[in-house]
Amino acid sequence: MAKCRIVILISGRGSNMEALIEACTRSDFPAEIVGVISNRKDAGGLIYAADRKIPVEVLDHRAFENREDFEASLTSLLENMKVDLVCLAGFMRLLTDSFVSRWLDKLINIHPSLLPSFKGLDTHARALASGVRIAGCSVHFVRADMDSGPIIAQAAVPVFTNDTQESLAARVLAAEHKLYPHALELVASGQARAVGERVIIDNDDPVDTQLFAPATRSYTT
Ligand code: GAR
Repeated sequence: MAKCRIVILISGRGSNMEALIEACTRSDFPAEIVGVISNRKDAGGLIYAADRKIPVEVLDHRAFENREDFEASLTSLLENMKVDLVCLAGFMRLLTDSFVSRWLDKLINIHPSLLPSFKGLDTHARALASGVRIAGCSVHFVRADMDSGPIIAQAAVPVFTNDTQESLAARVLAAEHKLYPHALELVASGQARAVGERVIIDNDDPVDTQLFAPATRSYTT
């Protein structure tokens, strides 16, 4: 069966992008990365992708008059790449309703919290301040409201008394790197799909529940 054609959008470091690229090197993985697009030319992830001979593009949002013009160019680029599914991986631009509608259910995102808690920025600081004992990350289909949309998969990690924003972020990031390839595999294989505001998963696999096992202390930095 033809592989699902993926474009990854980044704005910075790109460690989740690396995890997706790595997963796609598996011959039985149902997706292939056909491009990486960054809205910042200094995004660290661009070097990693280019080194792996993945076509990279920079689309600097500051070069456009407004959000609509930027997104029109982004849509043309994506269409030229014949993309089936777009993965946001630390892509720090809000997207308009019309862009999200154009790519409805073809746009997924990772966020470093157990949504619907702690949407937006400073996620880990707010999680620590709130006193939650479990944190985590979510991969979801994108809807117009920030960090919202049908949830595909989530992973949980513990919060320890001595955690700082940095130690919690590192523990969650390690979980993100496992969760995003898992969620992409579910969607690219057709096993998971959005139905209304929920995701239906065919033959939910008990192995998936490993993602919910509390991380050991070896995750801490
Ligand atoms: C990740 O933690 C990702 O979940 C977060 O940005 C980081 C990007 O790191 N995304 C959001 O907060 C989206 N709202 P990376 O560039 O190393 O993948």
